[in-house]
Amino acid sequence: SSEAANPDGTSAMTGRTRVALTGRTLRTDRWWVPPLFTTLGLAAFVVYATVRSFMREGYWDAEHHYLTPFYSPCLSDSCVPGSSHFGTPIGELPGFIPLAFLSLPFLLGFRLTCYYYRKAYYRSVWFAPPACAVAEPHARYTGETRLPLIVQNVHRYFFYVAFVITVINTYDAIVAFDGERGFGIGLGNVVLLVNVFFLWCYTLSCHSCRHVTGGRLKHFSKNPVRYRIWTQVSRLNVRHMQFAWITLGTLVLTDLYVWLVSTGTISDLRFIN
Ligand code: FES
Repeated sequence: SSEAANPDGTSAMTGRTRVALTGRTLRTDRWWVPPLFTTLGLAAFVVYATVRSFMREGYWDAEHHYLTPFYSPCLSDSCVPGSSHFGTPIGELPGFIPLAFLSLPFLLGFRLTCYYYRKAYYRSVWFAPPACAVAEPHARYTGETRLPLIVQNVHRYFFYVAFVITVINTYDAIVAFDGERGFGIGLGNVVLLVNVFFLWCYTLSCHSCRHVTGGRLKHFSKNPVRYRIWTQVSRLNVRHMQFAWITLGTLVLTDLYVWLVSTGTISDLRFIN
C-alpha cells in the first residue's frame, strides 16, 4: 500500500486502485503490538531526554569527573566548574537553552533522519502503513520525493557531525578515569565506556557510513583498504536497528547513573581508588 500514487488514488506504477476491503485489514493477529511498543519506546526516550536536557542539575560528578552525554560538550559559562572539557567560549546561557545546545540538535537530526528510525516512526507514528497488509489512513503517498520528506537526504551530513560528537563522548569517558583523587575506576567508568562502545556501534553501522566507506567504487579489488573497512561496517550495519534501541537505553542509563551519583542519591561503586 506504500507505492507512489496518482492524485486520483490509483497506483502511479500499475494504474490500478487498491483492493476494496471492508475494513482496514484482513489480518487477525495482533499486528498493532510492534508499532505500539515502538511508539511507547520512542516517546519515553524523547520525554526523558527533553526533561533532562533542560534540568541543569546532576550532569557532572565533580568527585569522579563523570559527565553525562546529554550535557556534552558543555561550552558555556553556565556549566558547573570542571564540566567544560573544551573551555567555555560561550558566555552565560538563558535557562531555556540546553547547555549542550551545540550537539543536541545534530544528534536529534541524526536520529530523526536515520534510516531505521524513519522506518520505525513512519509505521508507528504516521501509520504509513502501520504494518504489512494494513491499509494506511492517508489517501496519497508521495514518499520522500518532495518537501518536507526530501529533507531526509541530509542524513549523510548529520553522520559527519555525529561522528565528531561520538569522539567527544569518547574523550569524556576517557578523562573520567582521572578523578578528583587521580586515577581511579568505578562503576561509572564502566557505564560511560559501555555507552560509548554502543554509540560507536550505532554511528559506524549507519547506512551513510557504509556508503562513505565503500560507496561509489567500481572495483573493490582496486581499493582493498576501503573494501575491508566497508566489509566490517556492513557486518555492523545488519544490526543497526538493535544498536538504535540499545543506545537509547545506554544513553538513559548513563545519564541516570551520573544524575544519581552526582546528587549523592547513590554512591559510585569503586573498584580502584
Ligand atoms: Fe541510522 Fe545513519 S544513523 S542510518
